[in-house]
Amino acid sequence: MTLSTVILAAGQGKRMHSKTPKVLHHLAGKALLEHVITTAYALNNNTPPTIIYGHEGELVKRTLAHLHATWIAQTEQLGTGHALLQALPTIPDTHRVLVLYGDVPLTSIDTLKKLLATTPTDAIGIITAVLPNPTGLGRIMRDTHNRITRIIEEKDADATQRAIQEINSGICLVPAALLKRWLPNLKNHNQQKEYYLTDIIADAVRENIAIHSMQPQAFEEVLGINDRVQLAHLERYYQRHLAEKLMRQGITIVDPTRFDVRGDVIIGGDTTIDINVIFEGRVTIGKDCTIGPNTILRNVLIADRVEIKANSMIDGAEIADDCVIGPFARLRPGTVLSPHSHVGNFVEIKNSDIGAGSKINHLSYIGDSDIGKKVNVGAGTITCNYDGVNKHRTVIGDNAFIGSNTSLVAPVTIGDNATIGAGSAISRDAPAEQLTICRAQQRSIENWQRPEKKET
Ligand code: UD1
Ligand code: CA
Repeated sequence: MTLSTVILAAGQGKRMHSKTPKVLHHLAGKALLEHVITTAYALNNNTPPTIIYGHEGELVKRTLAHLHATWIAQTEQLGTGHALLQALPTIPDTHRVLVLYGDVPLTSIDTLKKLLATTPTDAIGIITAVLPNPTGLGRIMRDTHNRITRIIEEKDADATQRAIQEINSGICLVPAALLKRWLPNLKNHNQQKEYYLTDIIADAVRENIAIHSMQPQAFEEVLGINDRVQLAHLERYYQRHLAEKLMRQGITIVDPTRFDVRGDVIIGGDTTIDINVIFEGRVTIGKDCTIGPNTILRNVLIADRVEIKANSMIDGAEIADDCVIGPFARLRPGTVLSPHSHVGNFVEIKNSDIGAGSKINHLSYIGDSDIGKKVNVGAGTITCNYDGVNKHRTVIGDNAFIGSNTSLVAPVTIGDNATIGAGSAISRDAPAEQLTICRAQQRSIENWQRPEKKET
């Protein structure tokens, strides 16, 4: 039976106390709603889900415009039943409808697949969970045969009903034809004067429609986010879960409570990740690497046996086997390091190719450069790549030795095996094999008197 997925996301999220709509707050570097859209899209064989949006909806829609989805507005937030009703005109009667929530970000595809597989096509399927503290959520009422009879909202429940610990996740699977019959007839005769989607359970019971229920592996999969405390809790759950998965694959994570992935990572075996490393975007790391503490890696490709020392910031770089980087290195987009190259402390590199075995170990800026093999770039060397209008390239041949505190005024080429004397300002090409030096002659002045303080 064909599936339509609908994500309810029109609620305001007052308890976030935020200018930003709740579903745009980030978990693991992605908007809450983006997690749900991505899951729904993958689950349903790349069929875009329908999103019911409302509060600050235009901003939500604009922010997530890059994702495949159909957007339908719910202009007044009259309850979950009313929200789902807005999607029905676009859904064929023969479909099943899976309802997801924009503020429940971590439901796994496996759990949803299980719901689809275990719910008979003419039945209703719901995901429930038993929570130590069910406060605020709808409770699942069952009869003596353990059949679900009703879902009661906390605000409408009496003390006995509130003592029930099994809650409604809100995630449900319902034949579209039944929704089309039931939803237009919902009443809002309850404490919140809302049209409750959950009231369809009573309809199903009356019409003898089977209600199937299942529970996720971890209850965090169905937790919704209402405030920033819950957001932080689920963030930690997500990171812990991912860290454990990686550790089981053979990666050492020195402290899984100080591990933050805000994107997608692939990490090879026997690599060690020290504390407070932040991964952003797409990060791929090979085998036997060590990533030092307080390092930020954004959209980086790192090969095998690479050592990144503490406090380095690496963005948009490609790093080959056996490189050593940091501490306090900054690699910016377009940096490509060949095998066995070394980048030391307080070195900034952008848009440059560094050849195999080359060393830039101290206090340098290398921009828009092509550096050959086995080059030694002395401390404090700077490429002057910008003339105030245009950027120019610096080319350094294999085996060149650049003395400390050299300024290379681009465009400029340094030949193979060239030596540049320390302190030079090089603004013309320097030939291969020779020593080029460009600095004032040293003089000494005999009998020079230091000035003395005048008596007043
Ligand atoms: C709902 C369920 C409750 C369940 C809980 C799980 C109902 C009546 N109750 O509670 O049983 O335990 O979810 O989190 O369904 N939304 C809209 N439009 C609206 C109202 C809500 O799009 O008019 C969206 C919200 O953005 C949110 C979701 O629906 O993503 C749930 O709304 P929320 O108010 O958080 O949940 P409750 O209605 O309190
Ligand atoms: Ca509500």
